Amino acid sequence: MLQHNKSTILVTGGAGYIGSHTIIELLQQTDYNIVSIDNFSNSSADTFDRIEAITRKQVVNLNVDICNLEALELAVSKVKNPIGIIHFAAYKSVPQSVADPLMYYHNNLGSLINILKLCKQLQIPNFIFSSSCSVYGNVEELPVTESTPFAPAESPYAQTKQMGEDIVKNFTTSESSFKSVLLRYFNPVGAHPTGLNGEYPRSKPDNLVPYITQTAAGILSKLTVFGGDYDTRDGSCIRDYIHVSDIADAHVKALNYLIDDQQKQATSVFNLGTGNGVSVLEAIHSFEKMTQQKLNYEVGGRRAGDVISIYANNDLVKKELNWNPKYNLDEMMLSAWKWQLNLGLNK
Ligand code: UD1
Repeated sequence: MLQHNKSTILVTGGAGYIGSHTIIELLQQTDYNIVSIDNFSNSSADTFDRIEAITRKQVVNLNVDICNLEALELAVSKVKNPIGIIHFAAYKSVPQSVADPLMYYHNNLGSLINILKLCKQLQIPNFIFSSSCSVYGNVEELPVTESTPFAPAESPYAQTKQMGEDIVKNFTTSESSFKSVLLRYFNPVGAHPTGLNGEYPRSKPDNLVPYITQTAAGILSKLTVFGGDYDTRDGSCIRDYIHVSDIADAHVKALNYLIDDQQKQATSVFNLGTGNGVSVLEAIHSFEKMTQQKLNYEVGGRRAGDVISIYANNDLVKKELNWNPKYNLDEMMLSAWKWQLNLGLNK
């Protein structure tokens, strides 16, 4: 048994990019016992050494596949006093989901259903779900608020997040003592300000910022900007990039909000973005400015599944959770580079 008297927060995907940064904030800002559930399918056990280097605290990880309900139940039965789950574990590549949709539906929805079954069985009352701005699709009006109606999902990945939100909402309605928060991340980027923890792509990255840093590091030869002919100010797609530590901090605030019973409804929904729309080319130029180097890039064709333009209205989360993003784009890029320097260069 894992012996302790404190309440425990379970973090699925605790070795992942956002999960690990959230664990750091939880360890630094709260007194909860933190237990991670991660089978390292897209992460590495080294993450826990990095968390320890930053926080001087050790985290227990349960190495189990969440899609296997029996194994999940057995592992979590040993955890004392679980009072909340933050569910990060999911696949997150838009292009991969277009290529293999069944893998995405099976993993992202199967794991969510199992986690909610666990909440019911163990009467765990507080739940935070990692959703995504991709749920909005290509909307007419920007910025999006939490009540902007969804356009059709542009990728199976986005569809799993739309469906996931519904599953959480329906389950919350059916369970009187269960409360949930859906956090819609815009584009989380950057690394811990110490440079000691960041995104750790196990294969060639799909996301823009690790692609930029690996190109600058000489690991990849060239970055392709996916589309230069969109109806935007410079022809490239617009996104709302947000520092991963700001995202992590919002989870701590959302957890306290749930546990302190401050919710106005059973399920709350918040946009986690800075509110600034930034084009791919602007992101590249910020990186070049902050690191004083030229990036090898070319403008190429469009990528399937891409939304053209999206950024957040974040008024609600600022008001309800008293959250304010601290880092600007330049700081995000610099922290990502600091982390890449720590991982190593190939030149
Ligand atoms: C999408 C989701 C986001 C989710 C993320 C998970 C949308 C609007 N957003 O982010 O909610 O958290 O997946 O992975 O669907 N790009 C290039 N060259 C590259 C890589 C990317 O030009 O080599 C461009 C993309 O076309 C896009 C932007 O950079 O315009 C950001 O792409 P990426 O980092 O992959 O994130 P999204 O697909 O926006």
